[in-house]
Amino acid sequence: MANKIAILNGPNLNLLGNREGDIYGSIGLAEIEAACADECERFGFELEFFQTNSEGDLVTLIQDAGAVCAGLIINPAAYTHTSVAIHDAIRAINIPVIEVHLSNIFARESFRHHSYVSPVATGTICGLGPTGYILAIGALATQIPEEQ
Ligand code: DQA
Repeated sequence: MANKIAILNGPNLNLLGNREGDIYGSIGLAEIEAACADECERFGFELEFFQTNSEGDLVTLIQDAGAVCAGLIINPAAYTHTSVAIHDAIRAINIPVIEVHLSNIFARESFRHHSYVSPVATGTICGLGPTGYILAIGALATQIPEEQ
């Protein structure tokens, strides 16, 4: 548990690489997962990596991470801007949570400027593309107490 972290990805992130390349780039989610796995190895973290298009599944995965993981990274995608359920799920767990967005949500449409997740996240990284996930793993390493 002390060395396990979860990375959760929300709706449409399975389409990365083919989706709005001008905004999200050409790197697919499998490539991001592989880079995250390498980075986790550096820190001695065991990685659970998920993508789902369903809000309810994200809530369940957040609850599960709270029970068995030492830290959580989440890109809730569009649910960032709509989901009280995800906000509440994050409030209900007691592990550090880093919110990640590939794009700079504040430089886009105004409906993306509000996040239900940011007020309950430990920290937020946005606008740095896939590098944001790598930085979030390093950030979690500073937040998770070392195993005794
Ligand atoms: C996103 C930003 C969201 O506004 C959008 O709905 C996404 C992806 C990002 O990673 O930049 O699907 O979370």
